[in-house]
Amino acid sequence: MHENVIFFWSGTGNCLDMAKNIAKAMGGADLISLRKKPEVTDVRSAKRVGFVFPCHGGGAPKDFLEHAKLLQVSPESYVFGVSQSASYPGIGLSDLNRIIPLNYWKAVTHQCTCIWLFPHQLMVPLMTPKMAQKRSEKLSKKIAADVLAGKVSKREKPSRVFLNAGENAAWPMIVKLKAKGFKVSDKCVGCGTCVKVCPRGNIQLKGGKAVIGTDCIQCLGCLQYCPAEAISLGKVTDKREHYYNKNVTIHELTSEKLEVR
Ligand SMILES: Cc1cc2nc3c(=O)[nH]c(=O)nc-3n(C[C@H](O)[C@H](O)[C@H](O)COP(=O)(O)O)c2cc1C
Repeated sequence: MHENVIFFWSGTGNCLDMAKNIAKAMGGADLISLRKKPEVTDVRSAKRVGFVFPCHGGGAPKDFLEHAKLLQVSPESYVFGVSQSASYPGIGLSDLNRIIPLNYWKAVTHQCTCIWLFPHQLMVPLMTPKMAQKRSEKLSKKIAADVLAGKVSKREKPSRVFLNAGENAAWPMIVKLKAKGFKVSDKCVGCGTCVKVCPRGNIQLKGGKAVIGTDCIQCLGCLQYCPAEAISLGKVTDKREHYYNKNVTIHELTSEKLEVR
């Protein structure tokens, strides 16, 4: 195992892209996916252990936290967390810190992938994908430099905003209701991209057409990656430009482990 290990969760590539860039700027790392139950859980030999994950509904994706609970991290390791969001980081870093204490953490923004709510450019600050990507790459270098220098965050623990905690508690119910609005149109050619990118195994091909089940955590990977734009959620997503991070391949997104050297 590499002395640097970064665990990632990513629905549409922004977080995996950042994890890759941090790893590169650190001189290399093993990247391990927490989208599914990880095969590698014992990382006690790693010198530095990082986590890069998005904010979903005011907090980290539930699967990410459940899978983080399975990990064995040495108290001697330097541990860092990066939470990505469109505007506010929510309680994800605070929740992670309760499972694995963090030495250093950072909240960063990128394009908004929740396009049933906002167009993807509606992030803070307002930016096009090209600008946001450039900024993300610059921030990745800064985070890597901080990590290599062993920087420790000034606050004792990441903040926990009461409003975000409430939003995140209601999130599973919102997702369940919202998921009823998924539709697959006749444009579906049965290519299976959605089946591949769904972290929950919630999509099947039946009669050459995608059928979305009820076990959705709403990363929106299926909708955003669909090459035929055949998947919609509610009334607005058909009208909005789709978005996923072009620097990440579907193979990388769905890999259990990547080596960045
Ligand atoms: C279903 C869903 C919910 C989201 N909720 C929030 C949120 O509560 N606050 C926020 O600022 N961004 C939110 N976002 C935006 C993502 O955190 C952000 O776009 C992130 O870069 C996505 O990372 P990924 O491409 O690695 O999945 C949400 C995105 C999705 C898909």
